[in-house]
Formats: sequence, structure tokens, C-alpha cells
Amino acid sequence: MSESEGRGVACVAVRWEDAADLGELWEGAVLDVEVAGEHVLLVRLPGGEVRAYQGLCPHQKMLLADGDFDADSGVLVCMGHLWEFDLRAGVSINPAGCPLYTYSVEVAGDRVKVGIPQDGLRHYNRGQGTRTPGMRGRHS
Ligand code: FES
Repeated sequence: MSESEGRGVACVAVRWEDAADLGELWEGAVLDVEVAGEHVLLVRLPGGEVRAYQGLCPHQKMLLADGDFDADSGVLVCMGHLWEFDLRAGVSINPAGCPLYTYSVEVAGDRVKVGIPQDGLRHYNRGQGTRTPGMRGRHS
């Protein structure tokens, strides 16, 4: 299964790096891995699709994998200040406007591989967010 097309990685050469054993990533679970020196959040959605995002929260860089992930809704709540992200699409819900950096992913047999862009850039989106009604917890 290749998931390398069209999710924020535009026409940049990637180096495929071994990231995890598929058996470590249960369906409906998230996993923090370090790939080529980068924190990467792996998620295996219900149905088996694997996606990879920046591993550190756009707010204050806490590990997203330490958050609370609800597989049914696809929503991960960061443990830091309760920002919410839809891991089916890699977007923030609350606050809006903080998309997660999305890596290319490939599952080959029992190995999960992540494509690290060879562009010399940081693969981390930082978000200031915007207050929205119903915002929970602290935010700065
Ligand atoms: S560090 Fe994630 S919400 Fe603040």
C-alpha cells in the first residue's frame, strides 16, 4: 500500500526510511517514532490505513503520541493544552488553522516506511491557532 500521493509533500525527493514494524502499530492506535532525527507520529486508522504526521504539537511541541486518540472519530487531543487534531486528514479542529505536516508513508510487508523529504527544510508546522468558541483548557 502506497500513500505517497497528494498530502502535502509536493514534488520533493524523499528518502524512504524504515520507521516501525506494522505489528507495533495497532489499528486505532498512534505511535511516536524517530525517523532520521525527526519526531514522526504514526497512526493506523480503523480499516488499516497508516498515516504519518509531525510528531510534535504545533502549539508548544509536546509529543502528540502522548495525547488522547479516539479511533472512532479520528480525533487526537494533545495532552498539553487540549488542542484537537483530526488524524484522518491531518488538520486541526480546535483551534482551526494548524495543519500537521504530513509525511509520505508506505507499508511494505510488515514494515512501515516514512518518506523524509530531502529539501533541507524543517518538517514541522508551527501554529498560533485562533480562539474558537468552546476552546477548552489553557492556550497561549
Ligand atoms: S502543546 Fe499541544 S496543545 Fe499545547
